[in-house]
Amino acid sequence: VRHFIEPNSFSLDEQLALLDLADRMEANPAPYAHLCDGRILATLFYEPSTRTRLSFESAMLRLGGKTLGFAGAQLSSASKGETVADTARVVSNYADVIAMRHPKEGAPLRASMYARVPIINAGDGGHAHPSQTMIDLMTIRQRKGRLDHLTIGFCGDLKFGRTVHSLTAALSQFEGNKFVFISPEELRIPQYVKDETLTPLHQTYKETTDLEAELPALDVLYMTRIQQERFFNEEDYLRLKGCYSLNAKLLELAPPDMPVLHPLPRIDEIKLDVDNDLRAAYFDQVHNGVYIRMAIILALLGIPDPLTGKTVLN
Ligand code: CP
Repeated sequence: VRHFIEPNSFSLDEQLALLDLADRMEANPAPYAHLCDGRILATLFYEPSTRTRLSFESAMLRLGGKTLGFAGAQLSSASKGETVADTARVVSNYADVIAMRHPKEGAPLRASMYARVPIINAGDGGHAHPSQTMIDLMTIRQRKGRLDHLTIGFCGDLKFGRTVHSLTAALSQFEGNKFVFISPEELRIPQYVKDETLTPLHQTYKETTDLEAELPALDVLYMTRIQQERFFNEEDYLRLKGCYSLNAKLLELAPPDMPVLHPLPRIDEIKLDVDNDLRAAYFDQVHNGVYIRMAIILALLGIPDPLTGKTVLN
């Protein structure tokens, strides 16, 4: 059984095949509408979510399958002390594939050790969010036509931002990418992310606090929310929230073809006056989310694309 715990749970070829499949389904969804007839997706969400849970469920429904699950640990037997391992064993009887979000880093990996069906990490604490990363890659590729030789600015909470950690890892697979990490000192990207993903052979990076100074040289800007739920004390959050705010005026400094991505939800780090700028790509990401998650489900269930006869995973 294959699982999707981190971007590199899939080889680079498999990731690219997944992006291609999502593109084909977006262009022409009809041939895929019954590929999951009789299959069930379980969504086990121990943390709040709008996009990830609903788009996984929408994806399974659009493939002809069905869904079940819980949203909030208090509605499951986790509230009575049931472990992730036991939950994974149990739900393996009810579903063919499981998407799990959990506040503890490593919880989906642990679930994968006990499940008899594929586990998808739908976000684990401040660690990883690989399905969001595939959405981000799809959106960047659509906007820029490539995933290599890009200068990517990551801005905001780079310490707790799991989407940043996973996207950095994924973009590190491609030649010539340059990373500009823009954050308050306290929210710098963790050393382990830099150690594990940024190899001197392929990438260079810099760390700074100054978004305005970096904007003119960026090919892509990835904004993030300050992650209130991961702070140990309210005082630190209140001091740091609102430290970056992209508005239409500031965006005048950026190249005309620099997409602005954000995994959402946003608080106030992207002002509403950016939404109508053609560079705003965050609602494209939401749109792409359904097709990426359809592709992940088909990949893990080993269902071939009827148009090519090929599966995503080797
Ligand atoms: N991008 C994302 O993970 O959003 P949700 O928290 O709403 O799922």
